[in-house]
Amino acid sequence: AASEKRNLSLGGHVGFDSLPDQLVSKSVTQGFCFNILCVGETGIGKSTLMNTLFNTMFENEEASHYQNGVCMRPRTYDLQESNVHLKLTIVDTVGFGDQINKEESYKPIVDYIDTQFENYLQEELKIKRSLFNYHDGRIHICLYFIAPTGHSLKSLDLVTMKKLDSKVNIIPIIAKADTISKSELHKFKIKIMSELVSNGVQIYQFPTDDDAVTEINSSMNAHLPFAVVGSIEEVKVGNKTVRARQYPWGVVQVENESHCDFVKLREMLIRVNMEDLREQTHARHYELYRRCKLEEMGFKDTDPDCEPFSLQETYEAKRKEFMGDLQKKEEEMRQMFVNKVKETEAELKEKERELHNKFEQLKHMHQEEKRKVEEKRRELEEEMNAFNRRKVAAETLSLAQPLKKDKDKKK
Ligand code: GTP
Ligand code: MG
Repeated sequence: AASEKRNLSLGGHVGFDSLPDQLVSKSVTQGFCFNILCVGETGIGKSTLMNTLFNTMFENEEASHYQNGVCMRPRTYDLQESNVHLKLTIVDTVGFGDQINKEESYKPIVDYIDTQFENYLQEELKIKRSLFNYHDGRIHICLYFIAPTGHSLKSLDLVTMKKLDSKVNIIPIIAKADTISKSELHKFKIKIMSELVSNGVQIYQFPTDDDAVTEINSSMNAHLPFAVVGSIEEVKVGNKTVRARQYPWGVVQVENESHCDFVKLREMLIRVNMEDLREQTHARHYELYRRCKLEEMGFKDTDPDCEPFSLQETYEAKRKEFMGDLQKKEEEMRQMFVNKVKETEAELKEKERELHNKFEQLKHMHQEEKRKVEEKRRELEEEMNAFNRRKVAAETLSLAQPLKKDKDKKK
């Protein structure tokens, strides 16, 4: 068939064998970014471990135990080793494990991770994308700090890791491993792994499909969870100064593999699998987020008959749906308006009737009053007439009397 490929040999040097070098050179100039999320209770040693891992002093302030909830604190640093630039972001969970009710503790963490995915997706969906110099905030690795109790995982640990395992690569580590004895540590590790398995928590597995790292990665997978010790102190051991923790009974050397797994963690996280962590984040976790989000938004790859469904068609379908919705809403609004008008009209009519009644009543009262006044006036007039009549009578009477007196005088 036409699609079959044929093997040909080149007649001479062409030069595309420099392609890998071109890639390396491009990557070096571009620099890398790597984002670490540290989840663990306050004071468990997150900052100390970061300082130890990168052999530097990041800015650091202790969290109080009195936070109302968990909050996320991202900090970005530019680091350089020989000619390679690393833009490192360390995200801290502040106040994790400090609340009496820890039911919601995982939420801010999940939200943070989702927000980073969402930002990346938005950039991807832009017409003018600039993914090349976009600052990618997606979390490449979540270091989950387990308290060195020697017992088992806490339910907060299980719940949180379960909520995170589909969103981020999780590497569980036992913090402050110098506080746990060797035999206890062995049992503790087994216990933790079996609890993770029985609760269905997926942790990051170092990849074994690349021949160059198969051996080391598969042996390291068996050492999980790493038991680590962090320290910012330097102690003289023999004629070397090393990072260590000094106790009255001896010195715990951070980089001594018989003391703890710190070197294994650094090896696995930074020197061997950093690129795989970045890749897994993009190809697995981000891909899952993107798929769910686009499906939620109504995008499809195929129509009901399994025929390819283009973006254009999706858009048109969505548009139609949206217009339909809009029309329905408009109709509803209109109906609501009509009802409202009717209601108001009825109310107004009722008010008018009331007013009318009131007016009639007042009119009636007024007429009544007028009638009463009229009557009173008549009464008064009558009284006045009667009075006048009496007055006239009295006057006539008094006129007649003096005449009689005069008559009497003349006598
Ligand atoms: P917050 O940021 O306040 O939540 O604390 P954190 O988790 O960053 O802890 P931090 O690194 O500030 O360490 C807290 C205390 O634990 C400090 O006194 C550290 O010296 C001590 N510490 C850190 N790592 C270890 C360790 O591996 N073993 C022991 N024994 N102590 C440690
Ligand atoms: Mg800290």
